[in-house]
Amino acid sequence: MSADKTPELKPNLNIVVAIDGPAGAGKSTIARHLARHFGLLNLETGAMYRAFALKALRLDVALDDPAALERLAVETDIKLEPGEAENRVLLDGEDVTGQIRNQTVTDAASRVSVFPPIRAAMVKRQQEMGARGGVVMEGRDIGTVVFPKAEVKIFLDAAPEVRGMRRYDQIGQSGLAGAKAVPPPDEVIRDLRARDERDRNRADSPLKPAPDAFLIDSTNLTLEDAVKAAEDTVHAWLAKSEVSNSHR
Ligand code: DC
Repeated sequence: MSADKTPELKPNLNIVVAIDGPAGAGKSTIARHLARHFGLLNLETGAMYRAFALKALRLDVALDDPAALERLAVETDIKLEPGEAENRVLLDGEDVTGQIRNQTVTDAASRVSVFPPIRAAMVKRQQEMGARGGVVMEGRDIGTVVFPKAEVKIFLDAAPEVRGMRRYDQIGQSGLAGAKAVPPPDEVIRDLRARDERDRNRADSPLKPAPDAFLIDSTNLTLEDAVKAAEDTVHAWLAKSEVSNSHR
């Protein structure tokens, strides 16, 4: 992995880098590195679905009632504030960053995100946030729906068992299980497969690579290798755009 430093080719890139892929593929880590390396803002769109799911859970809105969820979406304000380590997530002005990563919210976020009106509301906000470029945006549908014309698209994947074990380690290290015992690895892998299934098979904006996305399979890669592959993809685009600009 190259050391983090200021961008080499341009100080202020106004490009959009879209990173999509399933849970546990390493999107957040890679997005964070790219943002730092190229001087871009890092926006985690999953956090928006999580914040909305948290609100639905708090208000006891049924997670399978699209009409009620749509009414809730209309009166909900979600903001992402990019930070060094992660995004600060504001739900109707309240900082909920520390409350959206537990298993209940994780599962609820995947459930509410199947409904088109909820997606439409989130996509609109995401497009506004990225309109001026200069962002790495990560999620499930960034390269296919939110920014289909993103300059760089990366689809990050890994075998479910590998992603499940990464998630298991993360739960153990971060205390995400709270007072509960850390679930065994096979349970974590089972939950992850269920979430994958829902994210990949929903009718609206299913998780899939954009036709022009660069695919990185991190199953057998170290984190450093995966970060390097992503950095190389952005560098390749920058080099190409320098060449085409010099021909204008
Ligand atoms: O990336 P994440 O694990 O924080 O995302 C949580 C859920 O939100 C995920 O299961 C599906 C949904 N999601 C989505 O549908 N579209 C996105 N762009 C980001 C997340």
